[in-house]
Amino acid sequence: MNLYHPVTIGSLSLNGNLFLAPVAGYSDRAFRAICVEQGAGFTSTELISAESVIRNRPDREPAGPAATLLRRADNERHYAIQLFGAYPERIYEAAVLLAPWKPDAVDINSGCPVPKVTKTGSGSALMKNPDNLGRVVEAAVKASREYLGNVPVTIKMRSGWDSSSINYVECARIAVEAGAVMVSLHPRTRAQGYSGKSDWSHIADLVSRLAVPVTGSGDLYAPEDAEKMLSETGCAAVMFARGAMGNPFIFSTTRSLLIDGSYTPTDMKTRLAAGFRQLELLAADIGERSACLEMRKQFCAYTKGPKKVTEVSVTYLHGGGALRNVLVHAETIEEYRAILGKYLL
Ligand SMILES: Cc1cc2nc3c(=O)[nH]c(=O)nc-3n(C[C@H](O)[C@H](O)[C@H](O)COP(=O)(O)O)c2cc1C
Repeated sequence: MNLYHPVTIGSLSLNGNLFLAPVAGYSDRAFRAICVEQGAGFTSTELISAESVIRNRPDREPAGPAATLLRRADNERHYAIQLFGAYPERIYEAAVLLAPWKPDAVDINSGCPVPKVTKTGSGSALMKNPDNLGRVVEAAVKASREYLGNVPVTIKMRSGWDSSSINYVECARIAVEAGAVMVSLHPRTRAQGYSGKSDWSHIADLVSRLAVPVTGSGDLYAPEDAEKMLSETGCAAVMFARGAMGNPFIFSTTRSLLIDGSYTPTDMKTRLAAGFRQLELLAADIGERSACLEMRKQFCAYTKGPKKVTEVSVTYLHGGGALRNVLVHAETIEEYRAILGKYLL
């Protein structure tokens, strides 16, 4: 089979198998809109706390900050809302409140390594208690069946808490028994954070053991990485995370590589133009000032070069370091235009 193909997740049929990963602070609806334009087949909100959904009641006026996080982008056909929490009854309560947003799937975060999250027993700490992980999934499935039109419930996890407790197989099996219809695996442990190399053999292993689709995540910085992960592990889909930051074109270039065997690297002008579109979409959502502050790190990503010496999927700016020192002070769209305008000509 061609490496680029449709994927079925429970009752959900997706045209393509190149997904955008949930990335806190980056995968907002403005960025997701740009990724969908470039061919992302499935997208996800960043992780959202079940407690904040329950506390803020984003379904009531005036809409609180959680409402912006939860909203679908205008062109987003298929998106998941990702929840985190450790208590099944709170996950149920929060998932019920998602109904007004009509998500196409609810994803349970079982991978976040950040202490603020793990100390509450959620994120990757769910993997320390697989039975509870199963109850959390079950609660989301029940809420979905009763209030969300039975949309698929999925889970995203790591390899385990640390190297002495690699338990992704046990956790994934329990999640599937509880009703999860897709498992996304980022094969690093919580202890590794985002450093070192992800161990793709865990993805291949999980694919061989599960009947539901497995999505692979980890170290996908270029189209060639996605091609390699799909062919080496047999995973149904891949999820771009850091490789998509500042390069939403990774979806279109990867699709070209998988279908035609080659692609044209994205030039800096095209990337920066996408950055400005993202800034404008974000400003429409949260106002110009907040959008400009948020976009500082994103524009830094847009101006950065390849993460690997061999990567040819993008062109980059010489002297980008000095440029970024200026960029991180921009406060208005006009200031961004003054700093970057010459690269857009
Ligand atoms: C800044 C940052 C924020 C992230 N936020 C989330 C999140 O909200 N939910 C989640 O499941 N994973 C999150 N991740 C993990 C990514 O989705 C992905 O699994 C991980 O970065 C590995 O892929 P990569 O090596 O290609 O970046 C985050 C990663 C980074 C770097």
